[in-house]
Amino acid sequence: MSTALVILAAGKGTRMNSDQPKVLHQIANAPMLVHAMQAGSALDPERTVVVAGHGFDAVRDAVAQYDPAATVVLQAEQNGTAHAVNAARTALAGFEGDVIVLFGDTPFVSAETLHRMVAARAGNAVVVLGFQAADPGRYGRLLMRGDSLERIVEYADATPEERTVSFCNSGVMLASSAQLFDLIDAVKPQNAQAEYYLTDIVGIARARGLSVTAVSCDETETLGINSRAHLARAEAVFQARARDDLLDLGVTLQQPETVMLSFDTVIGRDTVIEPNVYFGPGVTVESGAHIRAFSHLEGCHVARGSIVGPYARLRPGTELSEDTRIGNFVEIKNATIGQGSKVNHLSYVGDATVGEASNIGAGTITCNYDGVMKHHTVIGNNTFIGSNTMLVAPVSVGDNAMTGSGSVITKDVPDAALALARADQVNKPGLAVKLFELLKIKKKKRGEVS
Ligand code: UD1
Ligand code: MG
Repeated sequence: MSTALVILAAGKGTRMNSDQPKVLHQIANAPMLVHAMQAGSALDPERTVVVAGHGFDAVRDAVAQYDPAATVVLQAEQNGTAHAVNAARTALAGFEGDVIVLFGDTPFVSAETLHRMVAARAGNAVVVLGFQAADPGRYGRLLMRGDSLERIVEYADATPEERTVSFCNSGVMLASSAQLFDLIDAVKPQNAQAEYYLTDIVGIARARGLSVTAVSCDETETLGINSRAHLARAEAVFQARARDDLLDLGVTLQQPETVMLSFDTVIGRDTVIEPNVYFGPGVTVESGAHIRAFSHLEGCHVARGSIVGPYARLRPGTELSEDTRIGNFVEIKNATIGQGSKVNHLSYVGDATVGEASNIGAGTITCNYDGVMKHHTVIGNNTFIGSNTMLVAPVSVGDNAMTGSGSVITKDVPDAALALARADQVNKPGLAVKLFELLKIKKKKRGEVS
């Protein structure tokens, strides 16, 4: 059976207290909506429709970035969850499979749970995802009779007795496309909030003699985000899970709770991550690498056997080949470092290509920016860049070449050459002692105490 995904994301999210639409607030450096889409992708959907309203343009752009094939439809006024699903009707025209409805602010439903819902569709017209709530609060309550879900009652409309029920509605629902829209057509806004409730389709289906059931999942999967506090809690949940996944894959995290990961971080087995390392988006680290403490990585690739940090910063476009060494207080940006090359101390290497087995001395800087444009630096193989060399790009240093410490290199250096670009040294015999005496006399005259 083919599946289509409908993600409701039109709400404002007033409690976020933000100018940004709620669903674009990020968890692990991706909008929460993208996490919801990722969750739904477990069902390999044939179509994905996102229902947006508040901040429509921004939501549409974010969706396009993650899944250009997804459709974003406008729900101009938010008249309830059934009204929202109805906004996806045209986008689903001609689709004859099952539709799963997810909420953009409920991003952690697991693949396993979604597959259990699909399995429960056999023999049921509608399947709802519920959970036992520790604190049922204002969630809709699932009223069961045995395995049959009879009705969902919203908190605002529930009797005191119904409010004692702790089996709650997550909002996730599954039904065939035809059945879903047929049932939605019968929904009326006759309730405390005068809204079209999607939850009402359960009672309507039962009244028509259709079978409805609920599948239960752990409460952590249905974590809804309505405030900054919820967002912080969701981040913690994501991080804890992502760290556990890495440990299971054979990555060593010396102090897991101090390592921050992104939604797309990939790390190979037998890599060791020391404490306090930050992985921004777009990082892949191969097997057998070592990322030392307090390093910050984003948009980069680290090949096997490389050692990075402590206190290294790898910015977007960094490509470290095998067995490289990037040491403390080194920043690399948009640069390829060849196999076995070392940049061990206090350097900036940006917009550069470094060959194999080269050594970049402490304090070296590629001066890549002239105030208007960026320029490239090329360094060859087996080359030695002396400490505190300024490489004024565009410039190249050949294979087996050297630069003298403190050089300001403005012209290309041929293969095998030694480039010296600094003032010649002059020694004046005895002058240091004389100068000391002069300075001491000067100080005494000023009446200063040494
Ligand atoms: C809803 C459920 C409730 C469930 C709870 C779980 C209904 C009537 N109630 O209540 O049973 O326990 O979620 O969190 O379905 N949205 C739109 N357009 C609208 C209305 C909502 O896109 O017109 C989106 C919101 O952006 C949000 C989701 O639908 O992502 C849920 O809406 P919300 O207003 O939060 O519903 P709840 O009152 O929490
Ligand atoms: Mg809600």
